[in-house]
Amino acid sequence: MRAQLSTIVLAYDASGSGRPLLLIHGYPLNRTMWRPQVENLTDAARVIAPDLRGHGESDAPAEPYSVDRLADDLVELLDDLGLAEPVVIGGLSMGGYVALAFYRRHQARVAGLILAATRAGADSEAGKANRDKAMALAREKGVGAIADSMLPKMLAPETYQTHPDLAQHLRHMMADTPLNGVIGDLGAMRDRPDSTELLGGILKPVLVIHGQEDQLIPPSEAEATFARLPNARLALVPSAGHLLNLEQPEAFDAEVRTFLKSF
Ligand code: MLT
Repeated sequence: MRAQLSTIVLAYDASGSGRPLLLIHGYPLNRTMWRPQVENLTDAARVIAPDLRGHGESDAPAEPYSVDRLADDLVELLDDLGLAEPVVIGGLSMGGYVALAFYRRHQARVAGLILAATRAGADSEAGKANRDKAMALAREKGVGAIADSMLPKMLAPETYQTHPDLAQHLRHMMADTPLNGVIGDLGAMRDRPDSTELLGGILKPVLVIHGQEDQLIPPSEAEATFARLPNARLALVPSAGHLLNLEQPEAFDAEVRTFLKSF
């Protein structure tokens, strides 16, 4: 499905009924990373999974992106869907950065948060420099080079053996991301604010969920986030790396179901 927003078109999938659950994908991915949840959580929620600007089938304007802009696009999407009531916002990795920006800017629209495989802090100076290097790589060698550099760390080591199809899907997802989206995201992630201090004031329920074998963002980040949140639940999923919802969909969905029933 497609929604015409004020300046761009966003593509999205929607399924199920009941409490709205907006799922925000990571970098450099698209909404198909949420396929197991779009298919299987239909009894627990009305699942909405958009392609962020610059991804999948959404428009990919060639301009600077920010986590705030990405979050504001999602508010426009909710408005377009007629969803004025608070919704549960879930984000994985970069999607988590956007979820925190959404909370910071549109708190009244948030019923609860799911922070998956993400971190609250900003990029370190070294991290910012790596974003600039990745931008140069993408411009010089193309998005396929970004996909190749990231692929070995996206899944748990054993997932590459047990689910080669998943690694294949992942590489396609990454390599198909428009260059404008990759450049836009890298700038948005490099310049995102530190949300660590925000955490202590989030009184809404939060599920912090992380793969125990995440090679991109260590599980200690989830523990640190959880320790600061006043109303949170922590789930560390075994045999899962960075893309835990795809690697262990049943365990991920079970945690989400329990969380959604808890408030
Ligand atoms: C992601 O998976 O969304 C990104 O790798 C996160 C990041 O680079 O900080």
